[in-house]
Formats: sequence, C-alpha cells, structure tokens
Amino acid sequence: MLPRVLLTRRIPSSVFTRLTGQCDVDLYDGEGAIPRPELKRRLADKEGVISVLTDKIDAEMMDAGPALKIIANIAVGYDNIDVAAARTRGIIVSNTPDVLTEAVAEFTWALILGLARRVAEGDRLIRGDRWETWGLDFMLGMELRGKQLGIIGGGRIGRAVAAKASAFGMTTAIASRGTTHTPGRMSLDELLVTSDVVSIHTPLTPETHHLIDRRALARMKRSAMLVNTARGPVVDEDALVWALGEHLIAGAALDVYNKEPDVSLALRQFENILLTPHLGSATRETRTAMADLAVRNVLGVLTGHEALTPVT
Ligand code: DGY
Repeated sequence: MLPRVLLTRRIPSSVFTRLTGQCDVDLYDGEGAIPRPELKRRLADKEGVISVLTDKIDAEMMDAGPALKIIANIAVGYDNIDVAAARTRGIIVSNTPDVLTEAVAEFTWALILGLARRVAEGDRLIRGDRWETWGLDFMLGMELRGKQLGIIGGGRIGRAVAAKASAFGMTTAIASRGTTHTPGRMSLDELLVTSDVVSIHTPLTPETHHLIDRRALARMKRSAMLVNTARGPVVDEDALVWALGEHLIAGAALDVYNKEPDVSLALRQFENILLTPHLGSATRETRTAMADLAVRNVLGVLTGHEALTPVT
C-alpha cells in the first residue's frame, strides 16, 4: 500500500506527478488556505503532510494525525509549525532552504530600489491622472550609492542581499546573533543608528517578535528606510505607523504583515510605504524548486531515509 500524504495546496504538475507516482495523495484543491477543521479531519490517516505557511500545524493538529511521520513545509520559515511538539512526537519537520535564497534576495532589491526611487508612488500618480509636468525637484528619491545597507539576520538570504550591495555602491553592515567582532558585523543598535537602508532577514522566533519596535525605529536615521521580507511580526506595525506619522524614518517597504492577508488601513495611508503581498520567493523557478524539495523530503522519510533538509 502506498503511503498516504496530504497536500494542502496545488503544486506544479511535474512535481505533483512524481508525488502521485509514489504516494496516495489527498490534495486540498480549494482556493486559499485549507480551513482548520478540514486540515484536522484530513490528517487523521496520513503519514505525511506537505504544508505551506498559512497552515498552522500545532500539537492539536499532530494529535489528529497519529500516523504522521513528516511535516514538509514549502517555505524556509517554519514558524507555522510547533517544532518542539513535533519533536516530542517523533515527527520530522522539514523546510526548503537554499532554493529560494536568490529569489528573495532579488525581490528585496526590487523593494529597496522601488522605495528609494518612489516607483509605486509614481505609478499611482499616473494612474490617478495627477502627473502635471516634469520638474527638477519633482518626486526626488534617495540615491543608494555611498549609503550603508544594514542587514538584520546574517543567514543565507541576508548574505545574498548583502552580496549585491556593492553593485549599487553601497557598504553593508550585518547584525546577527553571534560575534560582532567580524568586519561588517555590528550590534543591532549600532546598525540602526548608522544605516540608510535597514533590511530584515531574521526568522520569526519569540526573541525576534517585535524586534523592530518604537525604540528601534526611533534609533534609525530620519532619512533611513526599513524593508521587511522576512516575517511580519518581526516589526511592530503600530510602532511603524507611529514612526511614519512622526516622520522618524523616510519610508518602509513591506512584503510581510502581522496578520496576513489583512494589511491595516493605518499602514496603507502613507505614500512612502511600498506594500507587496508576500511575494519574496514568488518566481516560477523557485516555487517549483520549493515544492520539489518538499516532495523529496516526504518521499525520503516515507521510504525510510533521512529528510534532505530537516529543521534541527
Ligand atoms: C518562506 O519560504 O518562508 C517564504 O516566506 C514563503 O515563500
């Protein structure tokens, strides 16, 4: 009998076909996230689940799936899964690192450039029929050359974003756990005070929840911009609204939010905030590679092997 696997979202057909060739697949085919009661019900007889970040898989869900051996998240982040609860139940959790690094790094640069040069604002102006004339001082932005990019989180994505900074003539500073005595590394406070662009690339953990709060925002230069492509709750959105309202920072670009897909009206009121709907890894190539890696993790574990990319 083939192992039973729940797939909570549609995945590219090439990857899906490989999965169905080796597993009995139960695909949730609805639009959007699988409702929690449905997830719980479908987990009852499954040995594996391929999940995404909108599926909260906690102890209650795991207990609803007593045969579960692996939870393969199609994401590098896994804050939607209670990893400690999985560990005590002997369930492997895997994620999809590496394959999305470049896509997220490219997108982070899209946001940095878009915000610094007011791309979305200009687009809104034209669509609103509000462009009257070219002007020497019209819609001036911030030039990146000679500025400092501050990266919070020195993991793969943070480093990939930093690697592209020299192409724009920027210097980089990185604040991450671990030593601050390596070149380019500095404390979070020092990074906030000295950077012109602050970009967040840290996972969401109890320690990083609201890491960027009123105090952190107040330390940033008034001319600086904040970019978040990591997880929404790393930034205290109320504090950000306050900081933008008080002109304590020059602008922000967010791809992730506290309660997705809800984006508060308070955030939307500002022209100097660039908002995108969690698109960091959203390229055809990368999403296929992410699904493929999740499938390989499931097939590995359900055939008695190690997961390729377990969460440790
Ligand atoms: C991730 O992988 O964690 C992203 O946020 C989803 O693409």
